[in-house]
Amino acid sequence: MLKICSLFYNYPLKLPRPLSPVNLAGDGFSGAMPLLWREAVYYDAAANMSEAVRTMMRMDAEAAQESAASADAGFLWDFWYPAARSTEIRGQNLVTAMLLEVPLVLGRTSEGKVFAMRDSCPHRGIPLSYGRLDGKVVECCYHGWRFDACSGQCVEIPSLSSQDKLKVERIFAGHFPCEERDGYVWVYMNAPGTKLPETIPAAPALAVFSDKYKITHLSCELPSHIDHGIIGLMDPAHGPFVHQSWFWRKRGSIHEKAKQFEPIPNGFRMSPHSPSTNSAPYQLLKKITGEPVTTTIDFVLPNLRTEIDQSGKMWFSSRATVTPVRRDLCRIDFVAAWNLPFPVFLFRPFAKTFLRQDQETMIQQAEGLKHNPRLMLIDDADRPAKWYFALKANLLESRRTGAPMVHPMDGPTTLRWRS
Ligand code: FES
Ligand SMILES: [Fe+2]
Repeated sequence: MLKICSLFYNYPLKLPRPLSPVNLAGDGFSGAMPLLWREAVYYDAAANMSEAVRTMMRMDAEAAQESAASADAGFLWDFWYPAARSTEIRGQNLVTAMLLEVPLVLGRTSEGKVFAMRDSCPHRGIPLSYGRLDGKVVECCYHGWRFDACSGQCVEIPSLSSQDKLKVERIFAGHFPCEERDGYVWVYMNAPGTKLPETIPAAPALAVFSDKYKITHLSCELPSHIDHGIIGLMDPAHGPFVHQSWFWRKRGSIHEKAKQFEPIPNGFRMSPHSPSTNSAPYQLLKKITGEPVTTTIDFVLPNLRTEIDQSGKMWFSSRATVTPVRRDLCRIDFVAAWNLPFPVFLFRPFAKTFLRQDQETMIQQAEGLKHNPRLMLIDDADRPAKWYFALKANLLESRRTGAPMVHPMDGPTTLRWRS
């Protein structure tokens, strides 16, 4: 039997799981399960299968349960994540993306509205991205089932005859709330198997302080788990080593710092302060305006680091998000806006160098992490990393119990380190 089963397992046909409606539920599917179960083919298929296939399906279901149990990849669900740049979603193209190991297909309706669907046809699982978009409806390339792009609702099954009673409108492809902001397409990733909450917050927006400003975007992938991506992003001690350059830091310029931090909802803030005297850009800003510079840096779950620098009427605002693509891959999306007399084309090479330095370091770190070493978090330089882990754990705990989230910080506190 084992032999037969493994033969079937290797067979490329992946049958739908008979026991779990997982791939239909969660993404806006609402209360239609009993009808669907009566009308769709899943149970008939199971009842009519040979013993070998039924065993295989049972094992498949068990494997699914097992993998659901071990599926905790450390992702934070029920948040907005940037999936793609707005400029990538053009015309009638279907664009693929992956967030939190969920394959997505993105597109834009003829009215200009972006949408995000699970890149999987609910009929036989073929990626919908192989199909086509007619401006409103996505058509699967296999049997031509057609889905409303914004709601995922099935609008047509071409093979149905006049005798068929299947209620097409009760079938949904997975779909996710989708918004455009700051040049990104954001997707709200609700946890698999859960319904969307009644209200969801707006997607994050970059803070800007004047009508006219320059804006630029950069991104790079890191071969790292999201947690390493984030603690790397928030790490204050690597600057003089990783980002050594004439325009940022020199190793010899390391000096002791004391910065005040305060708790904010779902995160922490480096309280407004005068930025480091060993960073040329801040010195330049001070020279331009002749006024002091203040910097405020926030980290907010699940993955946002924002920095606002202001001096007189001049401002610079940036946001870096680290987004989990898979458990072994994440992506930094960096957007910056400013009203300083500094052209985008001059800014980009600096920002690229900076990101590249972080990326190279993370590639090297991934090499070491393959061997599963024991790691350390020290005070105070690694305290932001400790807060991140505590925020994450406390958020999950509050979601589990329904109790208010406990913030890991009691109140404002000063951290001291050398960088
Ligand atoms: S697999 Fe998509 S319509 Fe059949
Ligand atoms: Fe860095």
